[in-house]
Amino acid sequence: MTRTGLAAQVVEAVRSVLPGGEITAPLHAPEFRGREWDYLKDCLDTGWVSSVGAYVDRFERDLETLTGAGRAVAVANGTAALDVCLKLAGVEAGDEVLVPTLTFVATANAVTYRGAIPHFVDSETVTLGVDPQRLDAHLSKVARLTDEGCVNVRTGAPIRALMIMHVFGHPCDVDGLIEVARRWRLVLIEDAAEALGSRWRGRHLGTFGRLAALSFNGNKIITTGGGGAVLTNDPELGRRAKHLTTTAKLPHRWAFDHDEVGWNYRMPNLNAALGCAQLERLPDMLGRKAVLAERYGAALANVEGVGLLRPRPGAEVNHWLNTLILDRPDPDLRDAVLEALNDAGFQVRPLWTLMHRLPMYAGCPRDEMPVAEALAASVISLPSSAALADA
Ligand SMILES: Cc1ncc(COP(=O)(O)O)c(C=O)c1O
Repeated sequence: MTRTGLAAQVVEAVRSVLPGGEITAPLHAPEFRGREWDYLKDCLDTGWVSSVGAYVDRFERDLETLTGAGRAVAVANGTAALDVCLKLAGVEAGDEVLVPTLTFVATANAVTYRGAIPHFVDSETVTLGVDPQRLDAHLSKVARLTDEGCVNVRTGAPIRALMIMHVFGHPCDVDGLIEVARRWRLVLIEDAAEALGSRWRGRHLGTFGRLAALSFNGNKIITTGGGGAVLTNDPELGRRAKHLTTTAKLPHRWAFDHDEVGWNYRMPNLNAALGCAQLERLPDMLGRKAVLAERYGAALANVEGVGLLRPRPGAEVNHWLNTLILDRPDPDLRDAVLEALNDAGFQVRPLWTLMHRLPMYAGCPRDEMPVAEALAASVISLPSSAALADA
């Protein structure tokens, strides 16, 4: 089969899944079918539109109920949430933080904001997340444990934390990564920006690490317009997250007094109102997205040479973005499929450029990246809005 022939078959398979045959489909559209208007109107009617308000408190409690996290702190966006996680994990200027090369740029940028250095590691094909075995082997080569913790013997820098990312809502090999973090005395942080509604062995993602970040950007499974949250099970870290993200202001009826350098990372009440309404609809979204994933799986099963990333046993996946994987890495075939699907009106995209290939991160410490490179040449994200399951 030629590349063009296979690309045409993929287009037909995708078309057969999506309603209306010829329609165009964005990668992930937000959906407002619940009480969004009511809650937003309530904010406008009462004047509570800005950085405090009942919806912020409610959104945080609702997130705690959903995820089982001891504390959720709503913030301005997912990137800010990552910044807070790293600060509270004790990451300091000059430290290294292990980060997958296969991630969205915000994961690495947040490390850089702290003055720390991302140290990139490879992924594995089953989950697309950091490969614990390869990570352990890499650390055995480049790191040693000292009284102060893990140190990179090549750079002399402390390796303080391991930031994992649950790609497209699929849980990483959480058990293996917890074990590596324990062995090398690394603080485990989860970039769970894409993982709201996903669980590993029944436990919500973002509750395995010491701290985690969620995102409610417009392209995520639920949106607050822009927004994020910090999750933690440690009450003191939760208290610190709230304090630091609200300018470290000391509570007082009129005085403006601050006891450290904080941020204004608060989520406005307007955005939280949207979030409360969206969370009410999450179970319905998850249900319809699972139906869409099933349909993609069935349609692509008939196309030789491609497959769909499927949840492994024990994983409950939110199916944020359905992921087509070529049987063999082939950048030309990937591009032919991207071209054909985009020409047909379906918004599809490849993986992000791997972090170690970005100019600002090219000189950072890293492992070899054979798996991430192969994935970059074989992964395509498909249109995944829940509404596509309505037909
Ligand atoms: C893996 C990952 N990390 C971090 C972010 C950053 O979140 P935000 O856009 O809310 O800042 C996103 C998404 O945008 C993401 O996909």
